[in-house]
Amino acid sequence: WPVPETALLASVGRHHDHMGNEIDEQPAVAQRVLDILSPGIDGGTLWRGLGLPPLDRIDRIAVLGCGTSLHAGRAVAGVFERLGHMPTRAVTASEAAHEVWEPRTLVVALSQSGETADVLRALDTVPADRGTVLALTNNPSSSLARRAHAVIDCLAGPEIGVAATKTFVAQIVTGACVALSGLAVSARRDVAAFDADLLALGAIPETLSAALDAWHNRAKRLAADLATASGFLFLGRGSGLVYAAEGALKLKELSYRWAEHQPAGELKHGPLALVDAGTPVFVVDDGDPRLDVDIAEVRARGGRVLRIGERTLRVGGMPLHLPRRGPSWGPLETVVPLQMFARELALRLHRDVDKPRNLAKSVTVS
Ligand code: G6P
Repeated sequence: WPVPETALLASVGRHHDHMGNEIDEQPAVAQRVLDILSPGIDGGTLWRGLGLPPLDRIDRIAVLGCGTSLHAGRAVAGVFERLGHMPTRAVTASEAAHEVWEPRTLVVALSQSGETADVLRALDTVPADRGTVLALTNNPSSSLARRAHAVIDCLAGPEIGVAATKTFVAQIVTGACVALSGLAVSARRDVAAFDADLLALGAIPETLSAALDAWHNRAKRLAADLATASGFLFLGRGSGLVYAAEGALKLKELSYRWAEHQPAGELKHGPLALVDAGTPVFVVDDGDPRLDVDIAEVRARGGRVLRIGERTLRVGGMPLHLPRRGPSWGPLETVVPLQMFARELALRLHRDVDKPRNLAKSVTVS
């Protein structure tokens, strides 16, 4: 798929750290991906151009990766699942040796660097006659790209901060474009949901920009308020869960504080014991009305609820849940405040936000 040479320049921005600039760059990155890839959705030309078999000849999808890339993979899996009713699973690359690979599997291997040893080793466990491998990477000349049957560049441009930010957004937008392109010509496609997702896809840059604007000062204030909290919970349901997971991961990586993510419904089965007066609990809202009950449980124990991506209107003080179904990749824009908060907290705690301790940008040992 042709990529204009001028498309991928490193960012120069208003922050002293790369991470801050890379967070700011996300709407532009999403727009670039859409400009280049979305014309290939209609008629399935992007999918065919990658040399992938028609989706009607694929029975299941496995997304494979580590860390942030695995979270992006889970969001992309949601597109195949909800629009194509296909069975999907997420495989943690370092655990792939325990997988049973069935025939007619499309393995979507995600890695921003394309050099993560766990991902490369995981591909060794996929029998040649069982899986077609699609690499989704920010480095189309990487080892992963060479090992795959098809490669798609996620077009994020150079990412210097060790903690992945713009590559996460780029992987999801790229993966959604590819999945939509495959589904555009598939009999599996849920037509109404497909059309709604196409509209939502075009709105991504705008929703990311709105989240950046809304949280610019708020993230800093919140970090000041919560600087002494020793642990954080991140909750979500359905398509919001991967963003809760990514929020918890960013917080751990950058601030070195304990952070746990859980499906909100699991709260009552154990994690609720962690909630005490003032415990910060981020809730990623994908519009699921059951979150109101989960939030009430946290508040009843004195927990401090931080609801992100609220899709609920209040009329006369009563919650009115919007009937709108969110996109099948989930509330992507919620990752922006979570990244911003993790960065602000880390700056406040005098951490190096570009080079967290003990971590590397690309882990080439397994
Ligand atoms: C390292 C980085 C993480 C990253 C993971 C996967 O652990 O510190 O930020 O998510 O590798 O990297 P990849 O290059 O495969 O996306």
